[in-house]
Amino acid sequence: MEKHWWQRSVVYQIYPRSFQDSDGDGVGDLPGITRRLPYLKELGIDVIWLSPIYQSPNDDNGYDISDYRKIQPQFGTMEDFDRCLEEAHRLGLKIVMDLVVNHTSDEHAWFVEARKSRDNPYRDFYIWRDPKDGREPSNWGSCFGGSAWLYDDRTGQYFLHLFSKKQPDLNWDNPKVRDEVFDMMHFWLKKGIDGFRMDVISLISKDQTFPDGPAESTGYTSFNIAANGKHVHEYLEEMNRRVLSNYDIMTVGECSGVTLEEAKKYANLEGTELDMAFQFEHMSIDDDPVTGKFTEKKLFLPDLKEVLSRWETGLEGIAWNSLFWDNHDQPRIVSRWGNDSEEYRALSAKMLATCLHMMKGTPYIYQGEELGMTNYPWASVSEFNDIDSTNNYKELVEKKIMTEEEAFRALRRRSRDNARTPVQWDDSKNAGFSEADPWLPVNPNYKEINAKAELSDPDSVFHYYQKLIALRKESDLIVYGTYELLLPEDPDLYVYTRTLGEEKLLCISNFSDHLRDFDLPDSFREGKVLIGNYGGWKAGDPIRPYEALVLKI
Ligand code: NOJ
Repeated sequence: MEKHWWQRSVVYQIYPRSFQDSDGDGVGDLPGITRRLPYLKELGIDVIWLSPIYQSPNDDNGYDISDYRKIQPQFGTMEDFDRCLEEAHRLGLKIVMDLVVNHTSDEHAWFVEARKSRDNPYRDFYIWRDPKDGREPSNWGSCFGGSAWLYDDRTGQYFLHLFSKKQPDLNWDNPKVRDEVFDMMHFWLKKGIDGFRMDVISLISKDQTFPDGPAESTGYTSFNIAANGKHVHEYLEEMNRRVLSNYDIMTVGECSGVTLEEAKKYANLEGTELDMAFQFEHMSIDDDPVTGKFTEKKLFLPDLKEVLSRWETGLEGIAWNSLFWDNHDQPRIVSRWGNDSEEYRALSAKMLATCLHMMKGTPYIYQGEELGMTNYPWASVSEFNDIDSTNNYKELVEKKIMTEEEAFRALRRRSRDNARTPVQWDDSKNAGFSEADPWLPVNPNYKEINAKAELSDPDSVFHYYQKLIALRKESDLIVYGTYELLLPEDPDLYVYTRTLGEEKLLCISNFSDHLRDFDLPDSFREGKVLIGNYGGWKAGDPIRPYEALVLKI
């Protein structure tokens, strides 16, 4: 198999609003990121994925772009961006930008034109349909609640928006849209950026007959109908030919609603589409069939093992995977599948990290995950900022699918805002994030959990991540070894091996808060501990609560 730099890399995602403020307006910005680059260098990561920093009215915090070639003024200027990129490169870090081209903002000049008249030259940049029987053209729902169609009085047609009303979907079947998008991608690549993370790229080719979904259609059911449309691979191949193949870059497709079979195409190792797929099947195993992620359902570990193992073995030798627990759309993993009590927070954060970072694929760390940051202790619904949380809360309650209390508890557990509270840098005011009150409150646990404290503690979650990253750098076994799951039915232990030639490692992770017996396979009796979160383990010992252990022979 041909080897690529991005297969040995570890990616760190920055959500700019919440990373570091430099000008005292309570919102993170580009100079703030530049200031913190040495911290990322010390952590040891290779690539930064920068969530959108483009001009945007911020209906969905920057995932609604009104000008792809301008910087959001709250984040700084193009000069600030250039300086950040230059400084990152000087430190040997790469920057991958978010590419959000399934939709634009309704304030983008293309849409402003498109909605003027039916024969406007930009009309076909978007998806317009006549009313059907006086109603929406289909029963598709938006991911942020309500219908995916919005009626536009001026021209008497509906336009499609799979996300908010302010995020109209682009019409990729129009070759002019593809020309414009590819042109814009060249603009950024010529500046020297190192690749793209492509937002909901699996949605760009819709079935333009818009077949109705099930009677109780929601955003997520429509999403699944829209995903992996007829021309998606054709469009990505075209993008690859006309843009990507001209640069030495890394590309990752956010492949929501993508099956393993489809992912083999998106991230094929022949390199005709994207370098890797970011899939979500494992992130929805504790979802509810009706309310989706808005639930308090607990994890059943065998389900997680089944899904992750199917992806690990299914893509082997065919396509490249991404590995992640956290991102800006997920609650904090230590609160979700670990244990954020004082006793177990650090241990379980390290266990989760070990379990993921020893797998095959490119690992992604979301800002603050390397500190073991936790969910926020929300006290009322009015504290949430995220459109996905506030809209869906309203809908769940209005449709009487949940009571107010149930919906609030579900939001507390799964809202995206849990990931979006400011990074906890130190124990000073606002956790060192900003001089001003931050746009989203700082987690009150910042006095104990912060980067400064962790940097000075050799046993911290930060230093554990640092070790995991360093291990990957020096080990072909971790990067290229094949994966095999052991004990698929065990409800507490996640155990797998990785093998490359004569080399083998065993990764054991206890997802429970109790001591567990474990029959060490004979072949690992003489194994050396490569990394572990407790210390003092010897062959034959049980596995302690939230213990993680990697043995190598
Ligand atoms: C996926 C992004 O990760 C999410 O934050 C955003 O709301 C939607 N796409 C719409 O762009």
